Amino acid sequence: MKVVVFGLGYVGTVTAAGLAREGHQVVGVDVDDMKVETIRSGCSPVVEPEIEDLVRAGVAAGALTATTDPVAALDGSEVSLICVGTPSGSHGESDLSFVRSCVRDVYDAMALTSPSESGHHAVVVRSTVPPGTVSSVVAPVFADGAPGDWDVGLAMCPEFLREGTSVADFYAPPFVVVGTGDPATAATLDRLFDFLPMPVHQVGVETAESLKYACNAFHAVKISFANEVSRVFKPFGVDAREVMEIFCQDTKLNIAPTYLRPAFAYGGSCLPKDLRALQHLARMHDVDAPLLAGTALSNELVVRQVTERVIALDERKVALLGLSFKTDTDDLRESPNVEFAERLIGKGFEVSIFDPIVNPHRLVGANRRYVEARLPHLNRLLARSPGEALDGAGVAVVSSGDHHVHEALMDGAPRHVIDLHGHLGDDIEHLVGYEGVGW
Ligand SMILES: NC(=O)c1ccc[n+]([C@@H]2O[C@H](COP(=O)([O-])OP(=O)(O)OC[C@H]3O[C@@H](n4cnc5c(N)ncnc54)[C@H](O)[C@@H]3O)[C@@H](O)[C@H]2O)c1
Repeated sequence: MKVVVFGLGYVGTVTAAGLAREGHQVVGVDVDDMKVETIRSGCSPVVEPEIEDLVRAGVAAGALTATTDPVAALDGSEVSLICVGTPSGSHGESDLSFVRSCVRDVYDAMALTSPSESGHHAVVVRSTVPPGTVSSVVAPVFADGAPGDWDVGLAMCPEFLREGTSVADFYAPPFVVVGTGDPATAATLDRLFDFLPMPVHQVGVETAESLKYACNAFHAVKISFANEVSRVFKPFGVDAREVMEIFCQDTKLNIAPTYLRPAFAYGGSCLPKDLRALQHLARMHDVDAPLLAGTALSNELVVRQVTERVIALDERKVALLGLSFKTDTDDLRESPNVEFAERLIGKGFEVSIFDPIVNPHRLVGANRRYVEARLPHLNRLLARSPGEALDGAGVAVVSSGDHHVHEALMDGAPRHVIDLHGHLGDDIEHLVGYEGVGW
C-alpha cells in the first residue's frame, strides 16, 4: 500500500519506518524541514533504540521517503495516518489545532492529486484525541465528500507505543484497535496491520478514541498508587518495594481484570474499613495520601449520582433489586445499596427491596447490628419476590444478576431500569427506559 504518515515525531517516525519495513511504500510528511531532511538523509529525527537502523534501511530500500509537501505525498495513496502532536492547552484540554490543519492539508492535497486505483482513501487518526474528535473535527472537513475522484473513509486507530521501547512496542502492541463505521477503511487497516500476530478489535470510533486515555490514566494511577502506599508505609519501617513485589504476584485480584468493570460503588466489610485505616495511618505521620482520599470520594460520588438520577425521574416507588454489596453474600455491612436505600427513604421514596440471599431472620452479629442501625424496618421493606418488589414501582435499580430478577424484569419492567450490575444481558439492555449507571 502507499501510506502517508503525517507528523514525524516519535509516533510518526516509528510508524513510518516500521510500515516501510513491512513492505509498504511510505511517505512521511512534516511541517518541520529539519525532520524531513533528517529522514531523507537516512537518519531518525527521534532518538529511540533500533529506530536509526530501521529508518536507514527504509530509506536505502526506497520504501521510506519524506516531504514537507502533502500534495507530493498524497498522490495515489490509500491511507493517511495522522500522527501529529495533541499537546495540552492552557486549561488541560487537548490542543487539536495540529490535527485540524493536518486534515485540512489532506483535503486540499486531494484537490490537486489522483487517488489510488480503488479510489478509496482511509484518513486515520493515530494521535491521542478526545472522544468525538473524528466526528467533530475530521468528518466536517469531508462533509460534502472528498475532492475529485477521492472516496474517503474515517477511522481512529490509537497508538500504544512507549518512548524508550517504541520500535519493540510497534511490533508487539498490547492490542490493535480500529474504530470506524466504514467497512472499506476497516479492510484497509486490517491489511495494514496484518503483520501483527493478533486480531484487530473493531469498535466504535468513540470507544477507540477513549481507550488511550483510559490506558494512560490507569498507568498514571498505578504509578501514583505504588508511590503513595510507599509514602504511607515508610514511617513504619516498611519497604514498599517488597510489599509491591508480592502484591504483583496476585494475578487473581491485583493484576487482573477483577474490579475493573464499571458498575456500582464498592462496599462490604473490608474495602471501606481498610481504606479508612490506611488513611488514618497516613495521617498519624502527616503523610498526604490524596489518591486514597480521592478513591473514597469517587466511590461516594457513584452513590450520589444514582440517588440524584432516581430523584430526577420523579417516580414515587423504587424497587431495589439486590441489597448486599455483591452477589452470593448476605453481608450488608457498608453495602452501597443499603446506603442508597437509606438516602431514598430519607427523601420520602417508597422503597421495596428484593435480594435473593438476604434473609433478615438469619442475619447475625455485626451484620445484624449494622442493618438494624441503618435500615431498622428492613423486614417491612423486603419483598418475597422480585415481582412483588416491582409491583407499582416506577423505577427498578438493579444490582443483582439473579435469574429470578432477570425474569421478573422481562415479565414486566417499570418505566425506568437503572443497571448497577453491568452484565444483566442484552434483553434487559434493550428494555425501554434502561440506562446504565455509568454507560
Ligand atoms: N510519544 C509517545 O510515546 C506517544 C505514544 C502514543 C501516542 N502518542 C500520541 O501521538 C501523537 C504524536 O505524539 P508524538 O510524541 O509523536 O508527537 P511529536 O511532538 O514528537 O511529533 C509531532 C509531529 O507532528 C508534526 N506536525 C504538526 N503539524 C503537522 C502537520 N500539519 N503536518 C505534518 N506534520 C505536522 C510536528 O512538526 C512534529 O514533528 C500525540 O497525540 C501523542 O499524544 C504519543
